[in-house]
Amino acid sequence: MYLFQPFTVKNMTIRNRVVMPPMCMYSADTHGIANDFHFTHYTSRAVGQAGLIIMEATGVQSCGRISDHCLGLWNDEQAEAITPIVHACREYGTKMAIQLNHAGRKCEAQEKTILAPSAIPFEDGSPMPKEMTKGDIKDVIDAFRSAAKRAADIGFDALEIHGAHGYLISEFLSPLINHRSDEYGGSTENRSRILIEVLKAVHEVWPKEKPVLLRVSAEDYEKDGMHADEMAKIVNLVKPYIDILDVSTGGVVSTPPTAIYPGYQVKIAEKLKEATGLPTITVGLIVEAHQAEEILGEDRADFVALGRELLRDPYWVLHTARNLDVQYPFPEQYERAFEARK
Ligand SMILES: Cc1cc2nc3c(=O)[nH]c(=O)nc-3n(C[C@H](O)[C@H](O)[C@H](O)COP(=O)(O)O)c2cc1C
Repeated sequence: MYLFQPFTVKNMTIRNRVVMPPMCMYSADTHGIANDFHFTHYTSRAVGQAGLIIMEATGVQSCGRISDHCLGLWNDEQAEAITPIVHACREYGTKMAIQLNHAGRKCEAQEKTILAPSAIPFEDGSPMPKEMTKGDIKDVIDAFRSAAKRAADIGFDALEIHGAHGYLISEFLSPLINHRSDEYGGSTENRSRILIEVLKAVHEVWPKEKPVLLRVSAEDYEKDGMHADEMAKIVNLVKPYIDILDVSTGGVVSTPPTAIYPGYQVKIAEKLKEATGLPTITVGLIVEAHQAEEILGEDRADFVALGRELLRDPYWVLHTARNLDVQYPFPEQYERAFEARK
């Protein structure tokens, strides 16, 4: 089965095509420090044989957190708390990535200053963000670089830059809310500038042999917003700096997807994969093995990410292998329970 075929990008061989996408657990203390919950949560999915786990959106600055209880990676104490989780997960053969994020105008943490490309609040009642100065932009780029260095020191296999869902980078990318008149606004190239600068900064400290992922929102569900064609152009601009594309949609404004059905984002991922030639992750209501197999077999994406389904069932990969009689190297301790049916 395609689902159980390994896939190699740079020096990272992922043992199957199942990705746990980043999912905020809002369970850190107010200093952004991971705890026992995070250890249990991530190691469960590693024992359950997820191929790649992308750790939840982790703030590169205090005001880059989505909430007061998001993980952070702007100091050594935060890095120390994450380290044993990563090492334990890797023991079970899972590859580990972390999603580095700046929440931009969608920061709901108790912060004095909320940053955004333009001074436009997310919705009625949201705080008024500060239009970022060039100095603020430089600080954010430096923060991504420092967090990437810490992620490298921790021993992550891969790094994902969060360029989706209306957080800071996607705020710059989207024509809907980036109203800047300097070199960070206007044309597609200008709106992509901060992303390119973040990626360049990250590469100064991130090991050359390890992959970098980029998550994007390729559709804003608004006529004048981001669409797959423009996102493909942006991804092609940053292609020298990324190895895997993680395609999502929405979140820049509060407009919901036009329609939600199983695999509703696959066609967008497929479009971007075709336009960029990058190994691609697709996500969104993928829950069934045959559905995943069709996506992979038809080459519509290279990986399937199962978010809520892996929250419901951390052992989805093991259950699927057993139900479909696939020979699979189960964790040694569980071999007798998960042998393929005779
Ligand atoms: C509880 C929860 C937290 C999430 N947090 C993040 C996040 O930290 N970063 C991110 O890019 N997407 C986040 N997402 C979106 C998921 O990664 C995924 O794209 C979405 O759930 C759709 O996939 P699914 O239908 O398989 O759940 C989150 C989703 C859920 C349900």
